[in-house]
Amino acid sequence: MLVGGPSGRPAFRSLLLVVVMSSCSATSLAEERKQLVMREKMMQIGGRLVLKKEEELANEKLMALKKAEMKQAMKTQQFPPSMHFFQAKNLIEKSEVFNILKKMPKGAALHVHDFGILSMDWLVSNVTYRPHCHFCLTRNGVLMFKFGHPTPPTPPECLEWILLEKYRQKLQNVTEFDSSLLRNFTLMTKDPEVTYANQDIVWSKFEAIFFTISGLVHYAPVFRDYIFQGLEEFYQDNVFYLELRAMLFPVYELNGTVHSQEWAVRTYTEVACMFRKKHPGFIGIKLIYSDRRFQNVSVITKSVQRAMMLQTKFPRMVAGFDLVGREDTGHCLYYYKEALMIPALQGFKLPYFFHAGETDWQGTSIDRNLLDALILNSTRVGHGFALTKHPAVWIDSWKKDIPIEVCPISNQVLKLVSDLRDHPAAVLMATGYPMVISSDDPAVFGAKGLSYDFYEAFMGIGGMAADLRALKQLAMNSIKYSVLLDIEKKAAMKIWEEKWNDFVADLARRPS
Ligand SMILES: *[C@@H]1O[C@H](CO)[C@@H](O)[C@H](O)[C@H]1NC(C)=O
Ligand SMILES: *[C@@H]1O[C@H](CO)[C@@H](O)[C@H](O)[C@H]1NC(C)=O
Ligand SMILES: *[C@@H]1O[C@H](CO)[C@@H](O)[C@H](O)[C@H]1NC(C)=O
Ligand SMILES: *[C@@H]1O[C@H](CO)[C@@H](O)[C@H](O)[C@H]1NC(C)=O
Ligand SMILES: *[C@@H]1O[C@H](CO)[C@@H](O)[C@H](O)[C@H]1NC(C)=O
Ligand SMILES: *[C@@H]1O[C@H](CO)[C@@H](O)[C@H](O)[C@H]1NC(C)=O
Ligand SMILES: [Zn+2]
Repeated sequence: MLVGGPSGRPAFRSLLLVVVMSSCSATSLAEERKQLVMREKMMQIGGRLVLKKEEELANEKLMALKKAEMKQAMKTQQFPPSMHFFQAKNLIEKSEVFNILKKMPKGAALHVHDFGILSMDWLVSNVTYRPHCHFCLTRNGVLMFKFGHPTPPTPPECLEWILLEKYRQKLQNVTEFDSSLLRNFTLMTKDPEVTYANQDIVWSKFEAIFFTISGLVHYAPVFRDYIFQGLEEFYQDNVFYLELRAMLFPVYELNGTVHSQEWAVRTYTEVACMFRKKHPGFIGIKLIYSDRRFQNVSVITKSVQRAMMLQTKFPRMVAGFDLVGREDTGHCLYYYKEALMIPALQGFKLPYFFHAGETDWQGTSIDRNLLDALILNSTRVGHGFALTKHPAVWIDSWKKDIPIEVCPISNQVLKLVSDLRDHPAAVLMATGYPMVISSDDPAVFGAKGLSYDFYEAFMGIGGMAADLRALKQLAMNSIKYSVLLDIEKKAAMKIWEEKWNDFVADLARRPS
């Protein structure tokens, strides 16, 4: 035990004593125990990394802080990873470990979605204050927005468009109104267990949020700024490369002109390029074209063909294809098998990055998405939350070196698991299964960048066993399992290493 043991230990200890006394030699027992501990240390994620002297020193500093925070949590029984993120967020921000993780160069974000990457405050304080912004409340009570001049035609869901600028002028308390907008843009609430009693309720709000912000983020000038500001937020969090799941919905202009998907891909390319020029050490972005898993086969067939076309046109930008949205209520991957086999049958290499196993329903057709992701040659697996329930898939995916993208806060907020110490990735971390940590839609969960998810993974999922080796491995994995070309990976790794060495030096010099 590294930290003071829980109560109930004494009984266990006396039991041990009996065993010790009845065995011939206490040293052999101690030796056997030591060997088991060593073996498990070697197995866990990062366990085989050999730290340099300075890293060892940094590790000692980090682990001393981690132990102190764990010990305190055991005393107060207030451990952020075991609490709902909305209630833990303030506590996390006070954590020294968290503040170190913020400074840590984390490499790449490999599982994030196009419009979940930038704090929603920006949409309220910047985007809704731009001229010609209209809103309406649909018959289902969901907000919608649209820029247009003159006022665009009213969609069937709305009574009429209201010009926000005019509406604000008549308000008594604009601050109050703006915070109500913000509540429409995130899942954050004081009492999440009450507000979101089950997965259906939380998913329905989750989907409503993307519907609500859609009219804001798909307005061409906002679209550009959103990408730039989103990259800024990740860059500030020491993330230097992103692979975005992007749906490439139509982007529109003030006069109603609508742009093609090619235009959107070109815009991503241009903005990322501009961002890179202004931000030393930033590597770039790639897109994983995505459609939603409630669509029928004919729609997805077209999407797969579009993905092939986009990849051919933009080989450096479009990396592959994925199906997104709630797995439990969507079609399973197998349902789309004909569509998903098209590239292979044509000898076309379209990499897949399937979300799979984001479910608690073991043994259902949805739960089998993990099997199908494997046999459809998914390059990585989004979430893979149910992987430990599928030993054969687990073994084969490991052999094929298919990593899972673990998004702890997303899994908790969307109610797959409540105490993150119980996250199935704990088993996978302990065995050293290939994985990366990502944040899915941090803006919707009230998080930012990758640091909050790294905190949950490091403190909660990895437990006391995870040290600097685990963190280093996770950061390196994010480059290793990216779709950058080998030569780009080498360059990225070099940039990361320089930043890592600075980070380690700072940490090692920290007064204890
Ligand atoms: C929004 O932010 C952009 C920079 O991204 C800035 O140029 C613009 O003035 C801002 N608009 C408002 C209304 O705050
Ligand atoms: C406006 O509402 C906020 C709460 O959203 C409150 O804190 C503030 O005092 C109100 N301002 C006025 C002038 O009533
Ligand atoms: C969403 O915004 C509208 C308009 O201000 C407001 O009436 C509603 O209460 C907000 N929804 C939430 C969940 O706060
Ligand atoms: C609509 O606006 C865009 C961007 O300002 C412009 O390029 C385009 O020519 C306009 N189209 C029409 C039909 O006015
Ligand atoms: C598939 O869905 C699309 C769009 O929702 C619809 O237009 C089309 O008729 C559907 N096709 C079949 C075969 O059901
Ligand atoms: C998966 O890979 C195998 C072996 O390379 C290949 O035979 C098969 O067609 C691939 N399947 C798909 C869907 O790409
Ligand atoms: Zn996702």
